[in-house]
Amino acid sequence: MSVTIKDLQAYKREGRRFAMLTAYDFTTARILDEAGIPVLLVGDSLGMTMLGYADTLPVTMEEMLHHTRAVRRGVQNALVVGDMPFMSYHASAKDAIRNAGHFLQAGANAVKLEGGGRVIELARRLVEMGVPVMAHLGLTPQSVNQFGGFKVQGRSDEAAKRIQKDALALQEAGAFSLVLEGVPADLGVAVTKSLAIPTIGIGAGVGTDAQVLVIQDMLGLSGEKVPKFVKRFADLRGEMARAVREFITEVEAGTFPDIEHSYIKASSPAPGELAASAGTRLPATADAERAVYGGSPS
Ligand code: KIV
Repeated sequence: MSVTIKDLQAYKREGRRFAMLTAYDFTTARILDEAGIPVLLVGDSLGMTMLGYADTLPVTMEEMLHHTRAVRRGVQNALVVGDMPFMSYHASAKDAIRNAGHFLQAGANAVKLEGGGRVIELARRLVEMGVPVMAHLGLTPQSVNQFGGFKVQGRSDEAAKRIQKDALALQEAGAFSLVLEGVPADLGVAVTKSLAIPTIGIGAGVGTDAQVLVIQDMLGLSGEKVPKFVKRFADLRGEMARAVREFITEVEAGTFPDIEHSYIKASSPAPGELAASAGTRLPATADAERAVYGGSPS
């Protein structure tokens, strides 16, 4: 059954923790959805993971919508959240409303916006228009230049209080959940305890209601250097490299494709002759003969 924002709010009331992952393409979205992930974020982190930008700032609405449509096609149950990119909600409320609408038209169930301050009023306007809003505070990557780098936020009492205040204001404005990124664990606990909506932590300690990771990071697909909060649950980079090396070796040796992976007509010459005429090393064994003349590769 499809997950809704009401379900996430019920999870909070029930004290039920949940997971969120990023997804940017059809194939991955389908695998994650089938594995039971309740929330998928088409994050603007796709600028780095899929498009090779240095940060999220160059990401456009067009790029976000392209990936959101692909993810939507792969999902049956998960709640799909579209991440509003830099400058898609900064110039005016009109832009914010129009761009949020484009996300819903592309198949997102909700949008995510970074920041407090004047974003709070935008969040209120979007909710009034019927657009569910996921808020995002702490180390908000679109503000990387203002922060002077990807640095943990909310370390001082004053900064922590500002985050707590913004969190409450975003809840009051109607946000249905809040991503808390790159903050000390005790602030993660304090914000989570103060809110009736679920908090979704990334580098915010164990005390938030939910956790999110970038899919490339948790599958071990990203480079050597990952932030401290990333746990690699698999080594797909290593496994991909191994498979690719094996493919190269087999192609170069002429052992792929073999009989099992070839279309062969019943009237074809015996495998040994086929191999000889193609100049390959197709095995001319009795089993191969049977595969050609006895079996029926379709
Ligand atoms: O873009 C993104 O992937 C995000 C998550 C890290 C929360 O905003």
